[in-house]
This record gives sequence, C-alpha cells and structure tokens, in this order.
Amino acid sequence: MPDGEPPRQTPCRASCPPLFPRIAHWPKRVYKLCMLDAADALASGVDRFATRPALPPERLDSLGREILALKKRLNAVILAHNYQVPEIQDVADYVGDSLGLSQQAAKTSAEVIVFCGVHFMAETAKILNPGKIVVLPDRDAGCSLEESCPADKLAAVQKTNPKFYTIAYINCSAAVKAISDVICTSGNAVKIVQAAPKDRDLLFVPDENLGSWVIEQTGRPMTLWKGNCYVHVEWTHSVITRIRREYPDAPLVAHPECTKAVRMLADEVCSTEKMVTWCKTSAAPAIIIATEAGMLHRLQKECPDKTFIAAPTENCRCNECRFMKLNTLEKLHDCMANLAPRVELDPETIRRARLPIERMLEISQRPLENAG
Ligand code: 13P
Ligand code: SF4
Repeated sequence: MPDGEPPRQTPCRASCPPLFPRIAHWPKRVYKLCMLDAADALASGVDRFATRPALPPERLDSLGREILALKKRLNAVILAHNYQVPEIQDVADYVGDSLGLSQQAAKTSAEVIVFCGVHFMAETAKILNPGKIVVLPDRDAGCSLEESCPADKLAAVQKTNPKFYTIAYINCSAAVKAISDVICTSGNAVKIVQAAPKDRDLLFVPDENLGSWVIEQTGRPMTLWKGNCYVHVEWTHSVITRIRREYPDAPLVAHPECTKAVRMLADEVCSTEKMVTWCKTSAAPAIIIATEAGMLHRLQKECPDKTFIAAPTENCRCNECRFMKLNTLEKLHDCMANLAPRVELDPETIRRARLPIERMLEISQRPLENAG
C-alpha cells in the first residue's frame, strides 16, 4: 500500500456492511498498519464499497461550534463510547467504556443526556434518569449481542431452573435487564460474578465469549447464552498469529468479546477503558489492539508517543462496528437541535431494569477483596 493512502477495503462476505474510511483521519503511522491489504486478492475492477469523504475542516469546525452552543443552551452533557468516530469523541464531555458511561449517566446533573454510542447504552442512561431527556444521534444503532437475546426467550430459559441467577452483560435490551438479577460490563464482569450468591446457578447472557473468559478468571461455572459480538468474532487465531509474527515485540491487547482462540494469544484481555490504562503503563512503544477500530483514536490521544496497530481481520475492514458508526457529527448536531430521536421506555420497565443496574453500580464500587 503506498504510504499516505488510506487502507483499501473490500467485502469478505455478502453480509458485510458498507464501512467508511474513518481512519483516514488518523496519523499515517497508525492507519497504514491497520489491515491486511485484501485488495491484492481481488481482480482489478471489482467493485469496492463506496467510501464517504471526511467532512471538510470548515464544516467540522462550524458543526463543532454549533454543538457546543446547543450543549450550553440545553444544559446537556455529551457522553460518547470509545468506538465513536473521532470527531464525536473530540466534542464529547466524557469518552469511555460502558461502565464509565453508566457511572457518568448515574451522576450527571445535566438536564439533557446526549448519548453517542448504541441504543442499549442510551437506554441505560434513561433507566438511570427517567425524568431527563435522553437523545441519541441514530435510533437504529443496535448491537448483535442485544439482538441475540430476546426477553421472551430468556424468560423461557429462566423457567427451566428456579435456581438460576441471571447476570446480563449490559449489551442487552431494557426488557432483558428488567428480568435479570444483576447487570455487568466487560470492565466489572469478574467482580460481579464473584459477588453472585454462592447457592445459585449462574446464567450469563448474552455474550458467550465474555462469559467463558469470566469462567476462566473466576472458576465459577455458568450457563452461557449463545450470543456474540459480530465484530469481535472476526478475529481468528491465524490472523492474530500472523500479525504477532510481523510485530514480535508488540504486545497484544484484546477485548473479552474475542473468542478464546484469540484471547489465548493476548498479553492482556480487558474492557476498552482498561486498555487505556494498560497501554499508558506499558513500556512497549508499539501495541496491537484487537477491538473495534474507534478505540485507536482514544488510545492515540491518551498515548501520543506510542504506535497502535489495529489487529487486522481476515479479509476486510470488519473491525468497525456498523452500529457504532451509524452516528455522525451531523446526526449528533441534529439530535440536539431537534431533541430527537429520544429514548422512551415505559415506567414499569424502567422500575424493574433499574434495580439490577444499581446493583451493578454498587458492587463496582466495592474494593476487590470484598466483592465476593
Ligand atoms: P466496553 O464496555 O469494554 O467499552 O465494551 C462495549 C462494547 O460494546 C464492546 O463491543
Ligand atoms: Fe455490539 Fe459488538 Fe458493536 Fe459492541 S462492537 S456495540 S458488542 S455489535
């Protein structure tokens, strides 16, 4: 790939979504390492995904100013997940992982919460703030994990064992939260499982990969729901082995939503927020990151002297979450200007879903040794 040219992209399967060359914004030394160049495997003339040009700097600047003015007028707070596009991260009041975002949502005094992430995250903010307006840039920003676990199916499984204690990964709907005993995120899942009642059988939903990692960490058996993140399962043992061989001195940090075959090759497995702390304290000048590509913007900002290598997927730029990337700076502006789309939930769902979220927030605050 010629130096300075954004990575080329090509679909690896019919279901691959159109992706945007966001990483063209990133420093050359980062993005040029971002993927295996699958374009070589294609015959010339094969159609590629349409790419969306980056916003011109003057448009970025004017939108940024308008968003800040709206924020002041509305008394709003902008919360953004680590996977959001760089220009959204750059205008947010807080950028973090699901746990940090829930903690921010729980304590904000703002009247309007603008949530740049996916729908279940904005829903969690609404559950914690029923009296406030919660808007999100794109209502269709879903999650494959959330989709894999409908509340009625979960309720049917719960009925098969009265001793089940349901631990729901936060990547699930409000209806699933409402019938769960406690919520967890990747940042606190180990602690939450350690704190679970010893006389109950644990049912962990919906991510089987996070669940199996937690079993490895805690030794506590759990029944796992068969869901997964369609992005994190794109990394395979062979592709990670190849990139590790290419950069033998670079440690690998992977998200626990990756499969065990990938996790076993990692030097550290952790939530997106813990990746920031781990990379800050690591002495390595270059680090391979196996999680959604938006993470690299945050990491590069926090660790400007390090080089981050986005772990390539087998054939294409499958390391961008199509749901997270539905949000754009323009949509962020519009949702604030129109105060829509809003998250609306019925009061009964809010009442029932709040309890397991609050239980999670309380357990998260306990010191590690007292968590069990
Ligand atoms: P984190 O809580 O680690 O940011 O993960 C959220 C997520 O959706 C990972 O795919
Ligand atoms: Fe869901 Fe995966 Fe996207 Fe995270 S990266 S929001 S788990 S689909």
